[in-house]
Amino acid sequence: MNLLVTGGAGFIGSHFTLRHRAQHPKDHIVVLDKLTYAADKAFLDPIIDTITFVEGDIADQPLAMRLVEEHAIDAIVDFAAETHVDKSIRETAPFLHTNVLGVQSLIEVCKAHPKILYLHVSTDEVYGGLKDGAPACTPESPLHPGNPYSASKAAGDLLILAAVRTYGIRARITRCTNNYGPHQADEKFIPTVVRCALKGEPVPVYGKGKQKRDWLYVTDHTDATEIVLHKGEDGEIYLISADQERENIETAQAVLDVLHKPHDLLSFVEDRLGHDWRYALDSRSTKKLGWKPQVSFEEGLKKTVEWYEKKFI
Ligand SMILES: NC(=O)c1ccc[n+]([C@@H]2O[C@H](COP(=O)([O-])OP(=O)(O)OC[C@H]3O[C@@H](n4cnc5c(N)ncnc54)[C@H](O)[C@@H]3O)[C@@H](O)[C@H]2O)c1
Repeated sequence: MNLLVTGGAGFIGSHFTLRHRAQHPKDHIVVLDKLTYAADKAFLDPIIDTITFVEGDIADQPLAMRLVEEHAIDAIVDFAAETHVDKSIRETAPFLHTNVLGVQSLIEVCKAHPKILYLHVSTDEVYGGLKDGAPACTPESPLHPGNPYSASKAAGDLLILAAVRTYGIRARITRCTNNYGPHQADEKFIPTVVRCALKGEPVPVYGKGKQKRDWLYVTDHTDATEIVLHKGEDGEIYLISADQERENIETAQAVLDVLHKPHDLLSFVEDRLGHDWRYALDSRSTKKLGWKPQVSFEEGLKKTVEWYEKKFI
């Protein structure tokens, strides 16, 4: 198979690319990445001689078109995105550029090449925050995005679903819960806890830290992506979750425990505007394809913290 992986130098995309290379040595992989602040091309160093790496923007439609034609691409696996909620609240335009116009650019490529499979990686955040006790979201649940990031991701999802119906493009969408693991940008929650704790600085926690998130180790997400790529059905939405909800404060405390740092480093700060309370996904659609999470929170967190300790010390 010839794959175009967008955002392959970012957090989740780099893990997907490294694992796909190991599991499918004969596949040709083209990575297209704009190399924003969230990317590090060095993540791909171990395999860089075996892939084609192109620095560029998914919204550059002529570039995307040229790549799929030159490399006879069979499938696009799309991790390229602006992803940080706080940044989207401060400045929304880059989110619309990549998460909406970038998606439309890839749709145009698929319209011109209808055999290409477009696997678009999306997020649980498109459903918006849930109350405690509310049932987990299903692929059919209505979208209620609560911030500019999730609204831009929802827009991308809807454009893809409309293109499936209107033009008959081949597309599959995945929506996953919070990921953690090595390679995540320093600004995100778990890297921030590790960085501050190692410096002995206050660890910022929004509000009272009671919001709930369902953390999935990053390679469990990329394994689910692989299964959807190989066994999923066109036009379907696949939900991916660990079914292990935790309050943010519990997650921060667990990180401090791995580092043997005191819990009183936690410092409550003014809550994020429009902060979603809780996300929960019903992942039966993906489990039916034969996927299940492999990495426990304890094991994954240990690996994650060790990686950031090496990075930050
Ligand atoms: N991180 C999570 O917890 C999580 C959870 C569920 C879903 N997701 C989704 O997974 C995908 C990847 O998330 P991530 O956490 O790896 O993001 P990330 O911010 O770490 O990486 C994004 C990558 O996309 C690249 N990129 C950004 N704009 C681009 C553009 N216009 N053209 C080409 N490349 C561009 C960046 O350079 C970077 O390499 C996103 O769609 C996100 O919504 C993430």
